Amino acid sequence: MNGKEFDMIIFGATGYTGRQALRYLMRLPESELGNLAVAGRDPVKIEALLENATRDNKIKVVIANSSDHESLVDMIARTRVLVNLAGPYSTYGDGCFTACIDHETDYVDLSGESFWIREMIDAHHARAAAGKVKLISLCGYESVPFDIGTLMAVRALQERYDEPCREAEAVIRFSLDDPAIKRDRALSSGTLASARMTIANGSPRSLKDPYFLDPILHSEASLEATPGYRLDSYFDKNRGVWMAPMFPGHFLNPPVVHRSCALWAEHGRGYGANFNYRESVDVSGLAKNAMAQRLVAWVLSLLPRHMLKQIEGKSALNALLTKIMLRGASHTGEGPREDLLDKFRYYIDIVARSASLKEVRVRVTGQGNPGYRSTANMVVEAGLALAHDAARLPGLYGVVTPATGLGLAVIERLKRAGVTFEIG
Ligand SMILES: NC(=O)c1ccc[n+]([C@@H]2O[C@H](COP(=O)([O-])OP(=O)(O)OC[C@H]3O[C@@H](n4cnc5c(N)ncnc54)[C@H](OP(=O)(O)O)[C@@H]3O)[C@@H](O)[C@H]2O)c1
Repeated sequence: MNGKEFDMIIFGATGYTGRQALRYLMRLPESELGNLAVAGRDPVKIEALLENATRDNKIKVVIANSSDHESLVDMIARTRVLVNLAGPYSTYGDGCFTACIDHETDYVDLSGESFWIREMIDAHHARAAAGKVKLISLCGYESVPFDIGTLMAVRALQERYDEPCREAEAVIRFSLDDPAIKRDRALSSGTLASARMTIANGSPRSLKDPYFLDPILHSEASLEATPGYRLDSYFDKNRGVWMAPMFPGHFLNPPVVHRSCALWAEHGRGYGANFNYRESVDVSGLAKNAMAQRLVAWVLSLLPRHMLKQIEGKSALNALLTKIMLRGASHTGEGPREDLLDKFRYYIDIVARSASLKEVRVRVTGQGNPGYRSTANMVVEAGLALAHDAARLPGLYGVVTPATGLGLAVIERLKRAGVTFEIG
């Protein structure tokens, strides 16, 4: 991997998330960055993007188009790490996986199209692992804080009590510092496009099986016996709050955390036999009184239920409802108001539990809009970790996860990105 022109290229830099990633990069100490480039398909757009950047002479421009495989290969051959922000990934991502393995380029993306990640695992994991290349999807808010936080809690449980972990549970609460956020759009053009691709191409199983990204898919028969997703809203008596399924995708973090467990197990460091991870949203930060919280929890439960029903082809009504929920943003680069992205915080409480009910708790605190500010910061740090910290990262390769590809060594970098991990 040595001797390449660039340490890291950010591809899709002109998109909504790409712009936030570049903004974050501009704030980091120049001495720590190495040789960087931003890449996109439109030379005019990308030059305009760098016009106001203070380091435009340091950050180079590369032109590549996912529809032109030769340009993609040329770009990837020049860099040690590719941060791919050009989604939807099931449309544009395949060529990147092949070329990254061929050219020993480590890779991170933000794909939420789990049906596509499954295809990439089946097609590329073995060859990437043999070539010692790391390919990490879902490397933003989904699923870095959940996957790394769970790893931290599990390892502390194992060390403190010398017992395997049986289950981990994560509960997230959002805190909005400006009420205008509630009236603003929640999702960017790329996220909406990815959700539409999931509906158009996805298998119902990708939305139903929390072990969907395990090295080997469980048999349909054993699937019946494993705990599935809870997709309704409900009142949690212990917490005294209304709970909802994870938004925007209930099917993203759990398969990643379970894959991490399975990949660590292949290396003799699994979390525990029949380990199960589940998660939910505590909506108390999104509405003031109990009535309003109940309504918010119900609204948040609509998208996952109707998405699943639509993929299963249940009814035209589902198709209409999902279309309404995923409407808007027909052009790339659109998303929530950028002046509101910093007026957001999130708190994730993760508890890891053994069979004898010993527990360890981890609190993850994130600054900024999770999907766009926090995600952009984290994916940049993940790329920099692959480029500069390789010797400190776990020796697991292939289509890996944040917890197996980056491990606990990335926590220091995430702190700089505004995401902290504290053990209880
Ligand atoms: N997991 C998470 O936490 C998370 C959070 C945020 C986003 N995401 C995902 O990240 C992806 C990007 O989201 P976004 O909202 O930033 O998307 P976006 O604003 O729609 O931008 C898409 C980017 O892809 C580029 N692109 C499109 N077609 C291309 C092609 N043929 N060749 C090269 N580049 C091409 C666009 O270039 P042009 O500017 O030239 O159109 C643009 O830079 C989505 O898949 C989204 O789901 C995930």
